[in-house]
Amino acid sequence: MFVQILGSAAGGGFPQWNCNCANCAGFRDGSLRAQARTQSSIALSDDGVNWVLCNASPDIRAQLQAFAPMQPGRALRDTGIGAIILMDSQIDHTTGLLSLREGCPHQVWCTDMVHEDLSTGFPLFNMLTHWNGGLSWNRIELDQSFTIAACPNLRFTPLPLRSAAPPYSPHRFDPHPGDNIGLIVEDLRTGGKLFYAPGLGKVDESLLEIMAGSDCLLVDGTMWDDDEMQRRGVGTRTGREMGHLAQNGPGGMLEVLEHLPKQRKVLIHINNTNPILDEDSSERAELVRRNVEVAYDGMSIEL
Ligand code: MLT
Ligand code: MN
Ligand code: ZN
Repeated sequence: MFVQILGSAAGGGFPQWNCNCANCAGFRDGSLRAQARTQSSIALSDDGVNWVLCNASPDIRAQLQAFAPMQPGRALRDTGIGAIILMDSQIDHTTGLLSLREGCPHQVWCTDMVHEDLSTGFPLFNMLTHWNGGLSWNRIELDQSFTIAACPNLRFTPLPLRSAAPPYSPHRFDPHPGDNIGLIVEDLRTGGKLFYAPGLGKVDESLLEIMAGSDCLLVDGTMWDDDEMQRRGVGTRTGREMGHLAQNGPGGMLEVLEHLPKQRKVLIHINNTNPILDEDSSERAELVRRNVEVAYDGMSIEL
């Protein structure tokens, strides 16, 4: 299976348009060695021609432009996007659907909870009905594997995760299973297994076991410290409040990943405040020591 990282940053991207934190300002004035990153999205394929888009970010147009295989040019109007899976209903994972309106109808796979948010608080499903049939909903049942016609050799298994619904959601402070999912994606020919979870607030024993059965972990890299937004003076919310497990500290993502010595480990959905974006930082060096990679836009993984 081909895994293409279209966007590796958290909401806002890097640098964030209105942010002058040490990272964003350092990037702009050239004093920081770092790569710019667009917002959270990946694409998966079993043949390199037909793709399943996981999340549709506000940066989708630039992301498609930067990755030629997603425009196979087989017809006057064409796309490599065969289906779209949404991991949650967050703005940074769904707003791109608006930019894909010219290509409707689209097959969209998401849970009841995400469909509800996208039919009420942020009614994309309703709005887009006015564009050639809009979004065709395929219900994701929790813990029930499914396949998608566009990539018949991939098997998707959704896992309910402890994370958080978006700020606009009626259940922001009333979590439900299905607000956020992770995915296990298995290539039925190669046997390669990916675990993908850009929003992961908590890892319990059973999830750890599932992660141990995957070859590659593409997991929540939003923050280094839980109180990073406060430390950098740009916000008051903690990672925990937003459903993101920080890397540093007791019980943090780095400790979790230490239990998984055999897997390829890649952090994704990196917030612009995270010191690991600075390639010369001690935090980045710590990741290198631990064999943990930082996803970047344009990164390709084959499993
Ligand atoms: C998140 O990942 O928590 C959200 O994208 C945050 C946001 O929408 O501001
Ligand atoms: Mn996000
Ligand atoms: Zn910033």
